[in-house]
Amino acid sequence: MPAAPILDVRGLTKRFAGLTALSNVTFSLAPGEILGLIGPNGAGKTTLVSLVSGTLEATSGEIVFDNEILGDMPAFRRAQLGIGRTFQIMRPFPGLSVVDNVAVGALFGTGGGERELAKARERAMEKLEFVGLAHRAAQRAEALGGPDRKRLELAKALAMNPRVLLLDEVMAGLNNVEIEAVIAIVRKVRDQGMSILVIEHVMKAIRSLSDRLLVLHHGEKIADGAPDTVLNDPRVVEAYLGRRRA
Ligand SMILES: Nc1ncnc2c1ncn2[C@@H]1O[C@H](COP(=O)(O)OP(=O)(O)OP(=O)(O)O)[C@@H](O)[C@H]1O
Ligand SMILES: [Mg+2]
Repeated sequence: MPAAPILDVRGLTKRFAGLTALSNVTFSLAPGEILGLIGPNGAGKTTLVSLVSGTLEATSGEIVFDNEILGDMPAFRRAQLGIGRTFQIMRPFPGLSVVDNVAVGALFGTGGGERELAKARERAMEKLEFVGLAHRAAQRAEALGGPDRKRLELAKALAMNPRVLLLDEVMAGLNNVEIEAVIAIVRKVRDQGMSILVIEHVMKAIRSLSDRLLVLHHGEKIADGAPDTVLNDPRVVEAYLGRRRA
């Protein structure tokens, strides 16, 4: 029997005023699985991550994390349970150093996080080394360039020691060498036992990382399955891949 899912999303819907950003989406994430999430701009990918992490409230539907229905649980409590995310629009804490930005993640992470600042900074340094950003630890976060900001987002999320990691386009704007480095990092994270949902427009990364693929289009799930099958699905080619090649 397959292991019980760590994350189970049922009939999730989010409406903004007149717009349905996410419509009745159901899927699950197994322990240790990497699930790729793709779809055109505006398909509802970031909305889905925000609903799971609790920064947005669902209109209807259910999110179950490790057999617990999350309901209206606030984001900080979900983080304590072990749901970590990155932000597509990066928001480093201005005025704080790179290492302290990551230490904030360590202070508010799984199980309530580190209690002591010194310990949080220690964990932050480990994560910065892990993502290749240790040499920038003392700089102010807003001084970082694009690729380094992506690394910072990743280190912040990892410092929470999440059980489920939601990655929202952490490779956007990176060059090929940098993308390969992030792919290797994500693999290593999974090998440590984390379950990962990865949103990415970089198809090379999606292909090489995903155990399974989920496709959203206009807020609806149009495919969910083995990457080879999904990427050859005519609906997916029509909605996303064909358009990208054009
Ligand atoms: N806070 C909000 N208020 C109103 N509409 C929103 C809000 N957030 C997102 N939307 C709308 O919901 C839809 C889905 O947006 P979302 O950001 O989830 O798409 P996405 O798949 O992440 O796109 P991208 O690939 O461009 O990041 C879009 O039409 C967007 O304009
Ligand atoms: Mg998005």
